[in-house]
Amino acid sequence: MLDLLLHRAQVATKLFSISKWLGMCNRAQLAHKYFTMNRLNKHDRVFVLTGAGVSAESGLPTFRGMNGLWRGYRVEDVATPEAFSADPVLVWQFYSERRQRHQTVVPNPAHYALAELERKLGDGFFLCTQNVDSLHEQAGSRRVLHMHGRIMQSRCSSPACTAAPFDDGNSYRTREEIPRCVACGALIRPHICWFGEVPFEMDLVLHQLGEATLVLVVGSSGVVEPAASFVRIARRGGARTVYVGPEVPANHGYFDEVLEGKAGEMLPSFVKLLLG
Ligand code: APR
Repeated sequence: MLDLLLHRAQVATKLFSISKWLGMCNRAQLAHKYFTMNRLNKHDRVFVLTGAGVSAESGLPTFRGMNGLWRGYRVEDVATPEAFSADPVLVWQFYSERRQRHQTVVPNPAHYALAELERKLGDGFFLCTQNVDSLHEQAGSRRVLHMHGRIMQSRCSSPACTAAPFDDGNSYRTREEIPRCVACGALIRPHICWFGEVPFEMDLVLHQLGEATLVLVVGSSGVVEPAASFVRIARRGGARTVYVGPEVPANHGYFDEVLEGKAGEMLPSFVKLLLG
């Protein structure tokens, strides 16, 4: 723990240009200063944004990178409204495979650490995830917003239809298997925000961002909008911004601190640090 504190203190020293006291402090003092700087107080509000990386250690592939989901598929073929109109069977085959995989995975220490943070902070905590899995909920998180939808839900594909999304873990592999909306007869589609569509509940997300004093982003490459801009918006509002992940994200310029490492290894200690 002392080493982690010291490492973070050195990073913080660089970032906050407080090198003057570095020479005057020994390791323990330095660690103590960083500890104090990080500890949340009762006025803090924490906004967490998670991406595919937080579920990587649970065995779900990320989208980009070496073994990323988008290596085997073209986004335009499976993750746009146009793709669904052109070939609903191919789209459903892609999401059916993902549904099956999701049923086999369990949360990792990163999910549990965030659930613990929420338990301690209550309404001072808000979790926005780009992930469509339910691993945050399985770990005990309650204040979770799925801005890109949920893999285990479906809805009517007609934009004019008002039928609500519903729980659905089924796989559909042929045209005949794909159900139709009971209200309007259109094909049922996965309840996922595709490219070219507006993510869910953006008003609430922007409100929570505006309230945040700390924005913690975990495991997101920082290339997909609007989520990639959250950190810039929060920083403009005065929030402190921290990234956790093994690679520096594309939007790294907006983070006060980048903690390089796997979420499951870094988050439990970082959350401890925040909670003091
Ligand atoms: N811990 C933390 N981060 C990790 C880990 C790990 N163990 N393993 C990988 N990562 C990081 C990668 O370094 C990468 O920066 O997770 C990030 C995953 O990036 P993407 O695959 O681009 O996923 P994400 O940012 O969530 O994508 C955003 O794009 O394709 C769409 O709708 C999809 O929600 C998705 C959105």
